[in-house]
Amino acid sequence: MAKLWGGRFKEESSNLLDMFNASIGFDQELWEQDILGSVTHAKMLLNIGILKKDEYEAILRGLEHIKDQIQKGEFEFKIADEDIHMAIESALIALIGEAGKKLHTGRSRNDQVALDFRLYVLEYNQIIRTKILELMEAILGIACAHTQTIMPGMTHLQHAQPVNLGFHLVAWCANFQRDYWRFSDSFIRNNYLPLGVGAMAGTPYGNDREMMAKELGFSAPTLNAMDTVSERDFALDLLYDISMLFMHISRIAEELVLWSSYEFKFITLSDAYSTGSSIMPQKKNPDVPELLRGKSGRVFGNLIALLTVMKGLPLAYNKDTQEDKEGVFDSIKTTLISLDILKAVIATMKIHPDNMLKMAKIGHLTATDLADFLVFKNHLPFREAHHITGVIVAYAEKKGVDISELEEEEILQLTSLDLHGVKKVLDLKTSMNARNSLGGTSSMRTQEQIQILKKWINEKKNG
Ligand code: ARG
Repeated sequence: MAKLWGGRFKEESSNLLDMFNASIGFDQELWEQDILGSVTHAKMLLNIGILKKDEYEAILRGLEHIKDQIQKGEFEFKIADEDIHMAIESALIALIGEAGKKLHTGRSRNDQVALDFRLYVLEYNQIIRTKILELMEAILGIACAHTQTIMPGMTHLQHAQPVNLGFHLVAWCANFQRDYWRFSDSFIRNNYLPLGVGAMAGTPYGNDREMMAKELGFSAPTLNAMDTVSERDFALDLLYDISMLFMHISRIAEELVLWSSYEFKFITLSDAYSTGSSIMPQKKNPDVPELLRGKSGRVFGNLIALLTVMKGLPLAYNKDTQEDKEGVFDSIKTTLISLDILKAVIATMKIHPDNMLKMAKIGHLTATDLADFLVFKNHLPFREAHHITGVIVAYAEKKGVDISELEEEEILQLTSLDLHGVKKVLDLKTSMNARNSLGGTSSMRTQEQIQILKKWINEKKNG
């Protein structure tokens, strides 16, 4: 079959070349953006006098028909057409004849693909952001109900200080808020129109790029034709944003795996989002969080793959960049389902406040409060207070109890310092609420953080 670019060729291309060279197998994903770009380009060609009104209308009708065929699954994507751009253009020419042949005036596949792919990336940037907000809302819903639920806060995965579950969940959300900002920044940075730059150096037709930028909702046309057809920063930005998002998802997934183990028993995952073992009938496995953690490998890989594709390319367009798409499609697909399922897992998990409290009573979590109390009450230097607290901790250890379980009388006998009222200080809830500085874990501060995030989410949703 004759190629759209076949004029200078005497021999047919080999089947092997066709198979190797073609991107139609995956870039058909861009059909909608390609048609939208063609409609806009045709309108511009009409405006600058390249197309006559009837030719323009024939093109629009033709593209409309092709759109309809694709939507109905009646369009045949053929390897011989090479890519989505030529598939649609060939179909248009077959459909409307001569006028169809004029559509490619002042346009190259190089700016076409740059447009289609960018539109696609920007569209999913918005969809992902919406899903991030939905996930945050689900998490905050739980956080609201658990600003009094004591659990051990950890550093080095060792019990450190008592916190409330809501506070821990707000920490998750703080990651997602930065992710949201990162996607927004990328959107703003890349919202420029590539179309109309031609193959690499501009065109002699006076393409009205301003008009097309407006038409397609971009902030402005890109600056330089050569850069426009060569760069894939917009795709790399998305892959990086997704990678950061997954680094966060993966950490949360790790906590869900830990928390659902017998050792922690902080949560039980719902049956609907757990799996069994084919050999051990008693088992209930956290496959979903494990897969979420595992999928970070694939999205990091997609980022590194495209960075590697791009790193050695001379200006301007090179066919290497055809390799930009599959990883992006894969990362987007992975992100959409992952955000949905993470939200569902979190929304349906059962929380066990009793076990959280039980664990908070292990490891002398209020030792810091005791030291602080010594400082306040006896005006001791913190180092000295730290030392005396150590002596009391050692006593509790020897007795086999947590310091929060010691009686005030016992403690008073261990030192001559004024420790009246110490029992209350050692209480987990008192300790948690004492951390009332801005950003701290007290119930009040946690509620404040939740309110700030909720307000922010509402602003994003309505603006
Ligand atoms: N399928 C190509 C790609 O994805 C489209 C651009 C091809 N341009 C060219 N001059 N061969 O990058």
